[in-house]
Amino acid sequence: MGLGSTRKTVLVTGAAGFLGSHLVDRLLAEGFEVVGLDNLMTGDLANLEQATRDCHFHFETGDVRNPLGVYAELVFNLACPASPVHYQHDPVQTTKTSVHGAINMLGLAKRTKAKIFQASTSEVYGDPEVHPQTEDYWGHVNPIGRRSCYDEGKRCAETLFFDYRRQHNLRIKVARIFNTYGPRMHPNDGRVVSNFIVQALKNEPITIYGDGSQTRSFCFVEDLIEGFVRLMGSPDELAGPVNLGNPGEFTIKELAEKVIDMTGSTSKLTYEPLPTDDPTQRRPNITLAHSQLGWEPTINLEAGLAMTIGYFEELLRRR
Ligand SMILES: NC(=O)c1ccc[n+]([C@@H]2O[C@H](COP(=O)([O-])OP(=O)(O)OC[C@H]3O[C@@H](n4cnc5c(N)ncnc54)[C@H](O)[C@@H]3O)[C@@H](O)[C@H]2O)c1
Repeated sequence: MGLGSTRKTVLVTGAAGFLGSHLVDRLLAEGFEVVGLDNLMTGDLANLEQATRDCHFHFETGDVRNPLGVYAELVFNLACPASPVHYQHDPVQTTKTSVHGAINMLGLAKRTKAKIFQASTSEVYGDPEVHPQTEDYWGHVNPIGRRSCYDEGKRCAETLFFDYRRQHNLRIKVARIFNTYGPRMHPNDGRVVSNFIVQALKNEPITIYGDGSQTRSFCFVEDLIEGFVRLMGSPDELAGPVNLGNPGEFTIKELAEKVIDMTGSTSKLTYEPLPTDDPTQRRPNITLAHSQLGWEPTINLEAGLAMTIGYFEELLRRR
């Protein structure tokens, strides 16, 4: 399943980030004209090193909180700080990025008659009472906590996407992304996989919040991007939301032990209190993605971790 004819113009917001830069590389490989937009809040132009060598890639410094005068036939809206450290830094601006960003990008899609994709999140399920989470679960979200700027911002963005579909017949695609990891993750934004790998490579203590029995599922970035492309290329009737993630479930302690083992590190585990509203269990039900898109992850945790560890080894060596 592809995205149709080539040389269409695609706008990717959040292009210099972890997921955005991998998506840009994939779209260029498929033959698209790609406009990458980013305000470089958490992104890094180094992630676009490969893309900038391609004459079909154009980068614009810009902010989705402002209306944009860009023409595109397809829009992938990924702009938003994604790690708690970054999105809690200025929570009001995080909500604005999700909500004003969605309004501005949907307005752009309406004007240019573009099909538009929203990078939503498993955080819309909050601390779920249903396990694993299916798309029809409405979630269990604290509206006034420290994570709310992100969770509620993304929930409101979903609302806007579906209202633009109902009210203006926009072609929308909403993906609910579960924990994804891989090369180009920020080395110190507190996300668990990058945190553990960097601590292990430096032989520093590995910090576990809580007792490490909380579970997460980890999807390798290449698998996720394949899911994005298939969802965007699917028939218009499929608006989503569609869960994209890896249903393999591991405890945080298991992940730490695996990373120590694979890096040959001398790091020891240390324990700190669990942050508030941290979900105890998180695992996608991907039946919908499998039946509608023929999609499922193909890269197991060991293989994905090996590629990610290789990336961070190189990054730390260069620094
Ligand atoms: N990585 C994951 O596991 C995951 C899980 C669920 C959802 N997501 C969503 O996917 C998207 C990408 O996440 P990521 O992991 O690549 O994060 P990231 O922080 O690496 O990338 C986000 C990018 O958006 C840019 N940005 C932030 N605010 C902006 C604004 N107002 N205007 C323009 N650019 C802005 C940042 O500079 C950065 O380059 C986010 O919307 C995130 O919520 C990611």
